[in-house]
Amino acid sequence: MKDAAPQTVYLEDYTPFGFTVEKVDLTFRLAPSATRVRSKIRFAPKPDAPGRRFFLHGEDLKPISTRIDGTEITPRHVEGGIELNAPDTPFTFEAEVEIDPAANTALEGLYMSGGMYCTQCEAEGFRKITWYPDRPDVMAPFSVRIEGDMPVMLSNGNPGASGPGFAEWHDPWPKPAYLFALVAGDLRNHPDSFTTMSGKTVDLNIWVRPGDEGKCAFGMEALKKSMAWDEKVYGREYDLDVFNIVAVDDFNMGAMENKGLNIFNSSCVLASPETSTDANFERIEAIIAHEYFHNWTGNRITCRDWFQLCLKEGLTVFRDAEFTADMRSAPVKRIEDVIALRARQFREDNGPLAHPVRPQSFVEINNFYTATVYEKGAELIGMLKTLVGDDAYARALDLYFTRHDGDAATIEDWLKVFEDATGRDLTQFKRWYDEAGTPRLSWSEAFEDGTYTLTFRQHTPPTPGQPDKAPRVIPIAVGLLNPNGDEVQPTTVLEMTEPEQSFTFDGLSAKPVPSILRDFSAPVILETRTDTATRAFLLAHDTDPFNRWQAGRDLALDCLLAMIRDGAAPDTAYLDALHTLIRDDTQDPAFRALALGLPSQDELAQLLHDHGHTPDPQAIWEALETLKQARAEAFHDTATRLHAQYQVEAPYAPDAAQSAARSLANAAMAMLTQLDGGALAQKQFDSADNMTRQLAALSALISAGRGDEATRRFYDQWKHDRLVIDKWFSVQIANATPDTAADTAKALTRHPDFTIRNPNRFRATLGALTMNPAGFHHASGKGYALLADHLIALDPLNPQTTARMCTAFETWRRYDSDRQALIEAELHRILATPGLSGDTTEMITRILG
Ligand code: PHE
Ligand code: ZN
Repeated sequence: MKDAAPQTVYLEDYTPFGFTVEKVDLTFRLAPSATRVRSKIRFAPKPDAPGRRFFLHGEDLKPISTRIDGTEITPRHVEGGIELNAPDTPFTFEAEVEIDPAANTALEGLYMSGGMYCTQCEAEGFRKITWYPDRPDVMAPFSVRIEGDMPVMLSNGNPGASGPGFAEWHDPWPKPAYLFALVAGDLRNHPDSFTTMSGKTVDLNIWVRPGDEGKCAFGMEALKKSMAWDEKVYGREYDLDVFNIVAVDDFNMGAMENKGLNIFNSSCVLASPETSTDANFERIEAIIAHEYFHNWTGNRITCRDWFQLCLKEGLTVFRDAEFTADMRSAPVKRIEDVIALRARQFREDNGPLAHPVRPQSFVEINNFYTATVYEKGAELIGMLKTLVGDDAYARALDLYFTRHDGDAATIEDWLKVFEDATGRDLTQFKRWYDEAGTPRLSWSEAFEDGTYTLTFRQHTPPTPGQPDKAPRVIPIAVGLLNPNGDEVQPTTVLEMTEPEQSFTFDGLSAKPVPSILRDFSAPVILETRTDTATRAFLLAHDTDPFNRWQAGRDLALDCLLAMIRDGAAPDTAYLDALHTLIRDDTQDPAFRALALGLPSQDELAQLLHDHGHTPDPQAIWEALETLKQARAEAFHDTATRLHAQYQVEAPYAPDAAQSAARSLANAAMAMLTQLDGGALAQKQFDSADNMTRQLAALSALISAGRGDEATRRFYDQWKHDRLVIDKWFSVQIANATPDTAADTAKALTRHPDFTIRNPNRFRATLGALTMNPAGFHHASGKGYALLADHLIALDPLNPQTTARMCTAFETWRRYDSDRQALIEAELHRILATPGLSGDTTEMITRILG
């Protein structure tokens, strides 16, 4: 529970801390229930600091002693910390506190996971370790001594002295407290090394619990690739003698970029072909890169305050996406990212939780690690790059690194760098950071005397607290095709700045077909919907892979909308166009697999809502089932051939080519399961020697209603492996029918392997239910009740994970009045829980609106 009552913090209230911290020395004497933390911190008053109140954060700390320059003092305990009378000259603050890692179920600060000690300090967890100015603009070099009986004891920076019962670490780079980390346990390592561009050798280690040693090799390769890539593409070299990664089972998020000591949710680093899917491998590679890239974008240059979170997260997500595009397939990565952006960020931006990429206020910063800050934040970097061009982007980044190395910077600093490097005025562009909401873009065309005119209109609907929106700068990448399919205008970027704006193209011999918003050049909703023939034409001829995929996706959406709204039969034009594509072996199998993907239930619900209809989750599910059946029947022969043809004979490799083949073969297998009741899936399950094939087969069998035996066998095979058992939990819920999903989830919450204390297991069960929309939104309300029960149970233990999962309810106003009433009652039930955390209170209050 929080000591401090929740308070709103405002960006405009920012004031610098009145002291600099010259040096931090920490000594930990580890004990599970009574760890002693001694700190010695050298402070210097800033000459011109206003007010200069000496306040140190601290939460749940048992004070043992406090001294200033060696003299014992009694601090005033105030809300959220202590206050002291500080000398006017530099002084040494010393304190000893006791903390209880074993009782720390919130997984913030120092806690225990599977017998090991570990920390999580972002955003405001360091205050649960000792008294400190726990704010990102206070940066200092840290030295750490760990005393305890653990065989491996790690902290940030370079190793110092060590011996029986102790280890010392020195981090020469000034850092904010949120990047502090400590790990101690009986760990095994997977060592390697990397030689940097200037010839320095860096020791690399991935540390894991005994038994997991065999799952480190892939992560290590990803780390080395990331290090080489950041040197080559951004000129960024690593800056310590050692880089450690630790895998931890109990973790609220994906991973954390602590200086020189990244801590990972074990699901985001451990991998083997037998236990991980192709998608897992791709994600792990991206997250390792992401955390590594933070060393420059986040650590060397950090954030002045938490309102600037997108400064490090948007840029680092953008960088990891560039990396994945280089390592794998750029179009595939872009399509996957846009699917995720629409599913998570557009959903957020169009509901009660909408907030700007750089918010103006917050109650609990943990609630702002959102798709908007991360994914939309990355889109803003992508737009900047598109607007200024590759060369200017590279110059601006060089300037950013030289000008701000060692700084705690702001979005203003970031934009100023681009203005100085390019001479552009970015005042209007800045609206993207300050205003929430997804712009809607529509267009119309005219053709006369060889001149083609495209006219665009933009508007952004109101969002909470921001009723009126000004026009944005929108880079619209456009290409034009001749009616014969040739490209007459290669991709060009139109820069829209007005509410309505026209662009002309001269010297055309025939009216062209436009390909608009190529590569998804801006995070907007394209409202203008073209006809089926144009879509089929673009699916066949567009040179832009993203827009080819989009054309297929739009065909599917229109087909499904007609089925849901009007009870129409599956559109044969869509089936024919898709069939032509998937049977064409000159086409990239990855692209064909993506084209076979269907819009999600949630995307359809949002689209129906946007068109003024109340979505019926059951009807959406049924339409998708009907369409899957129709596709299976129409494509039967092709599916049979593809399934056979794209079996991978070579030894398993988690690379782009093999994973494309497997995903096409698995898509074919899923179609054939619609027709054979699961015979082929059963064969695949029986013979699968990698998780990608095994899990796809199990999903298909469960969907076909004959998964019981395979589910049992899967459990017996994998009951020793926590990460695979997470999959076992979620696959059963994800593939359950609307009527049974909540019951399946409920039964699984009673399974001996279920625990609400492990965030991965909680997400694999309750999170999986929220991702089965027809099951979660079952008209009986049983899905809502089950989730609410578990949120109420989890909140006192782990407010952060509870608050995040409340977002399952953020779309509630889309639905019919019965469902709205059911959800509203659950939201009020949660809110009425005595002692509810500030995190969850904030989320539920905002969702209720
Ligand atoms: N900063 C981490 C990342 O994006 C995410 C994170 C936030 C992890 C807060 C833990 C707590 O890489
Ligand atoms: Zn990050």
